[in-house]
Amino acid sequence: MYILFVGDVVGSPGREMVKEYVPKLKEKYRPHITIINGENAAGGKGITNEIYRQFLEVGAQAVTLGNHTWDNREIFEFIDQAKYLVRPANFPEENPGKGIVYLKMNDLEVAVISLQGRTFMAAIDCPFKKADELIEQAKKRTSIIFVDFHAEATSEKQAMGWYLDGRVSAVIGTHTHVQTSDNRILPNGTAYLTDVGMTGPYDGILGVDKDLVIKRFLTNLPVRFEVPKTGRALLSAALIEIDQKTGFAKKIERILINDDKPFYS
Ligand SMILES: [Fe+2]
Repeated sequence: MYILFVGDVVGSPGREMVKEYVPKLKEKYRPHITIINGENAAGGKGITNEIYRQFLEVGAQAVTLGNHTWDNREIFEFIDQAKYLVRPANFPEENPGKGIVYLKMNDLEVAVISLQGRTFMAAIDCPFKKADELIEQAKKRTSIIFVDFHAEATSEKQAMGWYLDGRVSAVIGTHTHVQTSDNRILPNGTAYLTDVGMTGPYDGILGVDKDLVIKRFLTNLPVRFEVPKTGRALLSAALIEIDQKTGFAKKIERILINDDKPFYS
């Protein structure tokens, strides 16, 4: 079975790319499950109910989040009703929402887990220990387990990949917005990629208007970051092939769509 995972959708340019290319990618690769990271989907910070619904309509079965989960206040109104919305599982215990969802596919089940790193990020619960806990729970139902690890440090992401090797189907990094080229199957059968990359403005800096980011570097004064509404865009994703009996990965492929790497069906 195949899982298509689309990386961090940033603002309206990202949402437009999802609308245009996710149906085409689904037609080309026929994934059984499509997952989108939508934590930057509403103007770069957080997600709204309408955007979450749009992602499901375009063909996603689950939407993962990250450190911007609570940045759009609308989230508090719908997160507990949103069955397929997954926020980092190692947020404080009493936070709304959930960090694991189970997706049904014919007679199979896929567990989707979101975890967030702690290096150069908020001091939340241990993602490694939370992973142990959730994997133990998920294994009672399925061997197909997908982990979105939303983290800043490459080392922490690699550590998670090795820590979970052989226990989950895939550990795919998000958050740093630039696709890395280290896709591989680890020795015990887990697909790994340090960062899947972002979906949004192609000529910005991590999805933000480049002039504003440069101004901040030049002046060190506070600058309000904005997502450019016009201009070229890209989509970043990964396609993982998993043996549905064992839950081990067979193949992981990177996908990039932009003006320098156009999509061919
Ligand atoms: Fe993030």
